[in-house]
Amino acid sequence: MTYEEEMLALAQNAAKKEHVRILALETSCDETAAAIVEDGRVILSNVVFSQIDLHALYGGVVPEIASRAHVEACDRVIDEALRQAGIAAEELDACAVTYGPGLVGALLTGVSCMKGYSYALRKPLIPVNHIEGHIAANYLTHPELKPPFLCLVVSGGHSHLVRVEDYGVYSLLGQTTDDAAGEAFDKAARVLGLPYPGGPRIDALAEEGNPHYLTLPRPHTDGRYDYSLSGLKTAFINACHRMEQKGEVLPKADLAASFREAVVSMLVEKAMLAADEHPELAPAIALAGGVSANRELRRRMQQACDQRGLPLYMPSLNLCGDNGAMIGSAAYYRLMRGEIADLRLNAVPALRLVERRTLHA
Ligand code: KG4
Ligand code: ZN
Repeated sequence: MTYEEEMLALAQNAAKKEHVRILALETSCDETAAAIVEDGRVILSNVVFSQIDLHALYGGVVPEIASRAHVEACDRVIDEALRQAGIAAEELDACAVTYGPGLVGALLTGVSCMKGYSYALRKPLIPVNHIEGHIAANYLTHPELKPPFLCLVVSGGHSHLVRVEDYGVYSLLGQTTDDAAGEAFDKAARVLGLPYPGGPRIDALAEEGNPHYLTLPRPHTDGRYDYSLSGLKTAFINACHRMEQKGEVLPKADLAASFREAVVSMLVEKAMLAADEHPELAPAIALAGGVSANRELRRRMQQACDQRGLPLYMPSLNLCGDNGAMIGSAAYYRLMRGEIADLRLNAVPALRLVERRTLHA
C-alpha cells in the first residue's frame, strides 16, 4: 500500500467514526491559530495568536515578518490547542490547514508545518480554502444551520455574495469590482489617523458620530449584485484632505460614521436585492469574514432580514476574524467527501472559492 492509499483508507475510516476530531491550523495572514474541532460543529479548543503588535508599527501586515512569526508560533499554538482540548495528538483523526488564499509565505509556513504533523502522526491531511473557513464559522455558532443559504462574505481581502448550495459547493452571485470591504475600512481608517487594523476602530468611533455628515457616491456596477467600494473610498479620502488643507479639525466620529454608513448600505442593499429577486436561492442569509463583526452591518442585516421574515445567521464575534476553529469545521465536511491532500500540497495565494460566475449576474 502506498502512503497515499494508506491516508485515503484512514480518511475513509475516520469519516465513518461516531466522533471525528480534527486539528486545524490557520496562517494565511497575521494570525497564527490552531484549534481542535469535533464533528465540524463543536470547538474543543481554539487558540489564536495575533501578530497585530508586530505589524502595527508599519501600518499594515509586513509579509516577511508575518511568515517568520508564524514559524515561531506554529508549534506553540498547536501544543496549546491540544492541551486545552485535553487530548493527545495520537487521538486526532486528521490534520487540516489553510492552503489559500492569503500571503504566500504565511500560507507556506502553515502548510509545511501541517504536512510535518500529518506525516509524523500518520493522519490524513485536509487542505482548506480560507474563505470556506469563514463561511463555516457559522456552522460552529449555529449547530442547526445547513445549506442551502446565501452568504455575504466580507473580509480583509475578499468580498463576495455567494450561494452555499451544499457543503463545499458554492455559486457566485456578486462581488466587489475593486476593494474588499475590510480593505476599504482599513484605508479609510488610515486617513483618519487610526492605527492598524482600522476596521474595528472606525466601527467603534462611528458609534459616536453622525452617519449623514458626509454623503458619499453610490457607484454603478454592471453586475446586478456586484458592488464597488473604491470610488466612495477615494471620495472619502479627498473630502478628508480638503478639510485638512483648509486647516479644519477632522470630525473623526462623523466621518467614520458616514463612511461606515455608505459601505454598510451598499452591502446590505445588494444582498437584499439578490434575496428579493431570487427568494428560491435564499431560504436564509449568513454573514462571514472579519467585517461581519461590524456592529452596523449586523444591525442593518438583522433589520432587513426581520422585515422579510428571513432567518439571519452571523458568526459569534470571536469567530468573525481569522481562527483555526473555522478551518476545522470546513475540514470536517471535506473529510466526509474524501477530499484529502498528499504531501505535495502547495500554498495557493490566489485560490478562489468559485471559479466563475455561475448564477444570475
Ligand atoms: O477575515 P479577516 O479576519 O481576514 C481576512 O481574511 O482578510 O478580516 C480582516 C478585516 C480587516 O480589514 C479588518 O479591518 C476588518 O476585517 N474588520 C472590520 C471589523 N472588524 C474587523 N471592519 C469593519 N468593522 C469591524 N468591526
Ligand atoms: Zn480571513
